[in-house]
Amino acid sequence: MTMAAESGIARRLEPVRRLRGKVSLPGDKSISHRMAMLAAIAEGETFIEGYSESADCGATLDCLRRLGVRLQATDSGVHIRGAGKTGLQPSPVMLDAANSGTTIRVLAGILAGQPFETSITGDASLRRRPMRRIIEPLRQMGASVSATDDNLAPLTIRGGALRGITYEPPVASAQVKSCLLLAGLFAEGETTVLEPVPTRDHTERLLRAFGVSVTCRGAARTVSGHSRLQSPGRLRAPGDFSAAAFWLAAGLMVESAELVLEDVGLNPTRTGLLTVLREAGCAIEVVNERLVGGEPIGDLQVNASTLRPSRPLRLAGALTANAIDEVPILAVLGAAFHGAEVSDAGELRVKESDRLALIVRNLRAMGVEVEERADGLTVPGGQRFRGASIETAGDHRIAMAFAVAALVADGPTTLDDAGCVGVSFPNFFTVLEQLRGQGPG
Ligand code: S3P
Repeated sequence: MTMAAESGIARRLEPVRRLRGKVSLPGDKSISHRMAMLAAIAEGETFIEGYSESADCGATLDCLRRLGVRLQATDSGVHIRGAGKTGLQPSPVMLDAANSGTTIRVLAGILAGQPFETSITGDASLRRRPMRRIIEPLRQMGASVSATDDNLAPLTIRGGALRGITYEPPVASAQVKSCLLLAGLFAEGETTVLEPVPTRDHTERLLRAFGVSVTCRGAARTVSGHSRLQSPGRLRAPGDFSAAAFWLAAGLMVESAELVLEDVGLNPTRTGLLTVLREAGCAIEVVNERLVGGEPIGDLQVNASTLRPSRPLRLAGALTANAIDEVPILAVLGAAFHGAEVSDAGELRVKESDRLALIVRNLRAMGVEVEERADGLTVPGGQRFRGASIETAGDHRIAMAFAVAALVADGPTTLDDAGCVGVSFPNFFTVLEQLRGQGPG
């Protein structure tokens, strides 16, 4: 199930005239990680249908296996035998979160609750990403954590005997919030995270599905250390909105497109891109909305009658957290339509790559004008994309955003590393081939 994030296979992409068909999406990556981690420390067995086949979610399963969790991945999902809150075992080797920030930061919360020592590392990109944001509060809770330069992976965590704290993270981060709520399950008393702005709430929803009470009062999210987790038996991961976003954009940009995206997760803490599009006059049709396992899902349609943006795409303030992974594709959309203005997105500089810098460099390589700022960018609208060589830096979302730009470029485009899409969407190029092959000519 895993795939090297640094595989470095180049790929040439030709522009397309039409894209037609149903898009099959990977299961939501954020939700899959959390389902597996909670199932691992719950009582009872859990079957997770549609577990993401991404390399990131594969890394989470590998780490859990190393911690003694019995699990089996099949084509339809993952079966996990819960070890209970006290059943994890020390890993004989250092855990490897590969490229996955969610694996290392959220799992660290569980590791901080264990009365044994665990070391966890990741690939070169992950080893450059800031970990102080979880180290500080986990220490306040009583865990001992050491890290390179007190900030970078590998992390060595020795936990147990935690006490609940009230903590306001200096950055808006669902990973930090989730790390602390999971550590809070092992702590004496209550643990409260005060969110500077609301971030994705999958952990809160899933904890409830596992029978844990999570109170949400204003910005405060609180769990109690006495909580027990009971497996709900079966869970289903919705289609990943962040994967759907690339096809929504392709559907809007390619001349003749008719795309249906089924069973897409529509949690409002994730769909900031739809809000930005709507505010710019573009209405993506959402049909068949329903709740599955506490998460809203629906089918999305883009076709000739979908209204395209008629104003600039504006992303700022609290909304930025709800579209944080969609900024690369939003910048591409802005260039093609009426521009994009992104602010309060400084966090993008510490994602899998410095995404703001790479968006700018690659837009410019495609002949697109863009202004870079410390926390965002401005892209004028009505621009054309020139076929170019794209530098992905092994970042899956940069690769997919520019693969979409390549579909409407005036000549062939080469991605220096197409394999990195496997980090979140291993079938991305297979889907592209299917969609471009289904038109009548
Ligand atoms: C994620 C949270 C976000 C997001 C990442 C996945 C999660 O990161 O960018 O892709 O699953 O909690 P931050 O928590 O660092 O904002």
